[in-house]
Amino acid sequence: MEDKTDLMQKIVSLCKRRGFVFPGSEIYGGFAGFWDYGHYGLMLKQNIKNLWWQKFVRGREDLFGIDSAIILNPKVWETSGHVSGFSDPTQDGGRFNTMFQTSVGAGEDAVTSYLRPETAQGIFANFKNYLDAFSPALPFGIAQIGKAFRNEISPRDFIFRTREFEQMEIEYFIKEKNWQEFFEEWRKEMKGWIENIGVDPARLHELEVPDKERAHYSKRTIDFEFDFPFGRKELCGLAYRTDFDLKSHMEASSADLSYFDEETKEKFVPHCIEPSFGLDRLVLALLVSAYDEDEMNGEKRIVLRLKPEIAPVQIAVFPLLRNKPQLVEKARGIYQKLKANSSKLTDIFDDNGNIGKRYRRQDEIGTPFCVTIDFQTLEDDTVTIRDRDTGEQERVLSGEILQFTKLG
Ligand code: GAP
Repeated sequence: MEDKTDLMQKIVSLCKRRGFVFPGSEIYGGFAGFWDYGHYGLMLKQNIKNLWWQKFVRGREDLFGIDSAIILNPKVWETSGHVSGFSDPTQDGGRFNTMFQTSVGAGEDAVTSYLRPETAQGIFANFKNYLDAFSPALPFGIAQIGKAFRNEISPRDFIFRTREFEQMEIEYFIKEKNWQEFFEEWRKEMKGWIENIGVDPARLHELEVPDKERAHYSKRTIDFEFDFPFGRKELCGLAYRTDFDLKSHMEASSADLSYFDEETKEKFVPHCIEPSFGLDRLVLALLVSAYDEDEMNGEKRIVLRLKPEIAPVQIAVFPLLRNKPQLVEKARGIYQKLKANSSKLTDIFDDNGNIGKRYRRQDEIGTPFCVTIDFQTLEDDTVTIRDRDTGEQERVLSGEILQFTKLG
């Protein structure tokens, strides 16, 4: 147990030291449940979001994106069941609704609404707009990445349980009779993608959520759990929400949220499968999966073994010595060329401290490749490329860095 607590402390401390995640409002003593992402944490999140969007939206023909408002008409939350049911038990036996309330408008016109506790309702509330604007044929889905807010009674475990977090959700609309088939398909899609970005498969588990513990709208839920240092906990979830949401909104709003099937000439309310991903929990699971300590050239080091496409920085470019203008100028030229030749790539220029220190710094943020410009570069235009995991260095022509690292 001591070791596990230790690992969490090490990750939290690395995140602050290296500019991934800072405690929210830290100069005022912090603010429980809120965290700020620094440059490298932000890059990590952006890489995850981009891969998700590429896989589930751009890479498919049947998915549409949306960016709905965070504050919706309070009727949405009454109808979805969140006003009456989105609560946690308190210590004194009562229940506490964990939606953040906010007052919209001034004076007598002010109405109470809520910061969304899930991105999903913005999708359901727009279902008719999507039918009208895009005339999609079933099955099709609508995806949203965005902030969600929950006034958690006890936020804890770093960015695992927070009061402001980010979700990546898909509502996938289907005919009722096909729900099992699509549930199974999404189960595989979710698992495949989570493992593919670098979450340790040995720590990933599926949990069939029992009847009593499922959310009010779900007929079947599978949680993807992860062995965090503080225990096995929910990472992402897959739910069969039936026609609960669309049907409830149709009754409460009187908008027609039914779908007309051109082939069978039937009109019905579609059912829905919901893959839901928590971005902050994925960040933490990736950090736990990637964190390692080993020894290189007789020195202890900390290394994040992140996949290159996930790492905040892919290539760091160093002049061997900072006080040799020829080396610095040559290194800057190579750095600028890399930047211009690949929009997908994040590279940084670093001439601060000795080369060993620079390697250590890049290892800690998970940079897979360090390119060093030395005196030989000035003669034959070759550079050394150091591999983060093996420490091995190879000489390569400066024009072939992207091919060699497969980052082009
Ligand atoms: N739309 C379905 C939904 O919101 P959920 O299981 O309550 O379902 C989905 O939340 C995901 O959002 C979770 O699997 C988790 O990754 C993330 N999540 C939920 N509450 C969170 C919190 N307080 N802090 C960080 N992430 C959270």
